[in-house]
Amino acid sequence: MIVSPSLLSADFGYLAKELEMLDKSEAEYLHIDVMDGVFVPNISFAFPVMKCIDRLSDKILDVHLMIVEPHKYIDEVKKCGGDIMTVHYEACTHIHRTIQQIKDAGMKAGVALNPGTPVCLLSEIIADLDMVCIMSVNPGYSGQEFIENAVNKVREAKELIVKKGSKALIQVDGGINVETGKLVADAGADIVVAGSYVFSSPDPIEAVRLLHNL
Ligand code: DX5
Ligand code: ZN
Repeated sequence: MIVSPSLLSADFGYLAKELEMLDKSEAEYLHIDVMDGVFVPNISFAFPVMKCIDRLSDKILDVHLMIVEPHKYIDEVKKCGGDIMTVHYEACTHIHRTIQQIKDAGMKAGVALNPGTPVCLLSEIIADLDMVCIMSVNPGYSGQEFIENAVNKVREAKELIVKKGSKALIQVDGGINVETGKLVADAGADIVVAGSYVFSSPDPIEAVRLLHNL
């Protein structure tokens, strides 16, 4: 299992230390949650912080934009070191164009689905995607409870990927710990995002290892 710790739960007063710790862990990605207070009811952080993260870490930057009109920020995300750029299906009027633009900018393209958005809506774009992000909480906050129906959606995404011959990986974001991680791993997930589970653990490196071994 690929592990993408969500820095939303990190201590930003000690960001360099947190990144140094994660560099020693088996996490392959760093998950960067950008929130605008419009698409979601919370505001997090964005480009200046991303630049620092990119400078301080060698990990793959997995950028999750929970913002309206994400297509406006493709070049900025790339400039700040983004490797994977994930936009929300619900936030894009021209999702097909946005995916092409992300790829043209030299990044991998991901699309995230809110808990209320069905997987079948991806059928015409799945072949172009590098990643599908199944939200297992309503986006906006870390530390929320895992929504069980996400497991069914992971299975559906897997079926769609196989049917359409897509190379997209399946990521699950929200409420992930070893138990919920096992459920989505068995359903076919390739990547788990984990915020509070990793950062509130007395041993975050061990928490990442447990997820990695799922
Ligand atoms: C939620 C974010 C998640 C969040 C995950 O809106 O997209 O990435 O940080 O945090 P946990 O793992 O605590 O649910
Ligand atoms: Zn996220």
